[in-house]
Amino acid sequence: MPMRIDVITVVPDLLVSPFSHSIMKRAQSKGLLEVVVHNLRDHTPYKQGQVDDYQFGGGAGMVMMPEPLALLLDKLKAEREYDEVIYMTPDGEQFRQGMANYLSLQENMIIICGHYKGIDERIREHYITKEISIGDYVLSGGELAAAVVVDAIGRLLPGVLNDETSALFDSYQDGLLAPPVYTRPADFRGWKVPEVLLSGDPKKVDEWRHEMSLKRTAERRPDLLSNEDQE
Ligand code: 6GU
Repeated sequence: MPMRIDVITVVPDLLVSPFSHSIMKRAQSKGLLEVVVHNLRDHTPYKQGQVDDYQFGGGAGMVMMPEPLALLLDKLKAEREYDEVIYMTPDGEQFRQGMANYLSLQENMIIICGHYKGIDERIREHYITKEISIGDYVLSGGELAAAVVVDAIGRLLPGVLNDETSALFDSYQDGLLAPPVYTRPADFRGWKVPEVLLSGDPKKVDEWRHEMSLKRTAERRPDLLSNEDQE
């Protein structure tokens, strides 16, 4: 059975392209991943596709109403078991490689993209099992963040990547940043590829790469070296 991810959004168009190319396309055409995008407006009981309303207590900004979300969530949950019901929100848990690894081991997930001021708190209390933020900045909606999360998960599914694109040596996968890479020509405008990479000695090459990973991580992300428990 492929992993199934149901994404709930009020802007489904935003999620077409991110899942239609390259590795995400391969994951789906190989039957390893199924992404189903739902337009929340198709599930509202209110007139003219209404999905949001003014917030109680006053204040600027609309809030996504509970009923359309609950109706669609109930429908999906009656069709299959879900391991996680995720809400994309800037006040969620920081998304990291460790969470991508964990989510790549699940079978079925729902991802809700927030818009406007967010969704009614009662949906968060009663349906959501995980809240995710992709970083300390505010996006105008959860769609681009959901695309980031689905991409990071999808490429980890067994069989999606081949040897050439292997996730094993990614930055972050071993807690270090990736080493520099080079391709032909060996001399470009007098800028030369490090000798060791042309040496044909795989052990030396591995050592050099590890050394460069450590150096790069120490320079750019010293926090990754000190923070052992970082997921
Ligand atoms: Cl998940 N949503 C929005 N709207 N903004 C964000 C985010 C999510 N993560 C970081 N900024």
